[in-house]
Amino acid sequence: MKLNNKVAIITGAARGIGKAIAERYVSEGAKVVVADLNEQGADAVAVALGPNAIGRKLDVTDQTSIDAMVAATVSKFGGIDILVNNAGLFDLAPIIEITRESYHRVYAVNVEGLLFTLQAVAKRMISQGRGGKIINFASQAGRRGEPLVAVYCSSKAAVISLTQSAGLDLIKHRINVNGIAPGVVDNEHWDHVDAMFAKYENLKPGEKRHRVGASVPYGRMARPEEIGGLATFLASEDADYIVAQTYNIDGGNWMN
Ligand SMILES: NC(=O)c1ccc[n+]([C@@H]2O[C@H](COP(=O)([O-])OP(=O)(O)OC[C@H]3O[C@@H](n4cnc5c(N)ncnc54)[C@H](O)[C@@H]3O)[C@@H](O)[C@H]2O)c1
Repeated sequence: MKLNNKVAIITGAARGIGKAIAERYVSEGAKVVVADLNEQGADAVAVALGPNAIGRKLDVTDQTSIDAMVAATVSKFGGIDILVNNAGLFDLAPIIEITRESYHRVYAVNVEGLLFTLQAVAKRMISQGRGGKIINFASQAGRRGEPLVAVYCSSKAAVISLTQSAGLDLIKHRINVNGIAPGVVDNEHWDHVDAMFAKYENLKPGEKRHRVGASVPYGRMARPEEIGGLATFLASEDADYIVAQTYNIDGGNWMN
């Protein structure tokens, strides 16, 4: 077990990638806080995981909610060793149709929420004096532009940049900040993404999802549980000397 008795907060863990990481972390010996805006979903995941997990309602756009989650984690498990900053929102529109509402909604979660969750957890880790691991979820979208995806792509580029700066600042406290940039991961999230692309690219339902999967060099989209190994490695002692990096995990998509 690579994470024996470590305490991990995973944001956006009611479903998808976050849920798969919560399952993997518990199997690696960690105690996990399944934190999500979707309280019922978070509780359901935690109940299925057993006594080493708790569900927690969290809105990363609300500082009071972030602080309450940190306090609840410390009260339940005695400290925090790992943060997986996974909660994220997607939206798309051509440049001339982007609204301020969409921009603020996506940035509030993907950038501001991620930064201030990281800050609150880092403060706690510094006061504990035993270091920690913070993993930020970027995306292949943060490595390039896409015609319909300016807001999301730029928010994920900001995640890569914040990971670099926070990584350099916090390593003196032995807090490793690194990132994961998945390619395309098949889950409920893609129902919504597929429907939005269908609207703008005049595709049948399911067609974008199929095309995107078929174009991955590996031959298909990732499954959420395939992200768990990298998320475990970056949270483990094996990653102690890794600082401010964002790793692609994309079946070869970016190289292609
Ligand atoms: N699925 C992909 O293809 C893909 C690819 C690259 C990167 N990513 C990134 O990986 C991460 C996880 O993706 P996913 O596909 O599992 O997403 P998802 O949409 O399935 O899950 C995201 C979770 O975040 C929660 N959430 C949303 N707003 C929140 C808030 N304000 N506070 C707390 N929780 C909130 C949602 O309730 C949901 O449970 C995201 O950051 C996403 O941008 C996903």
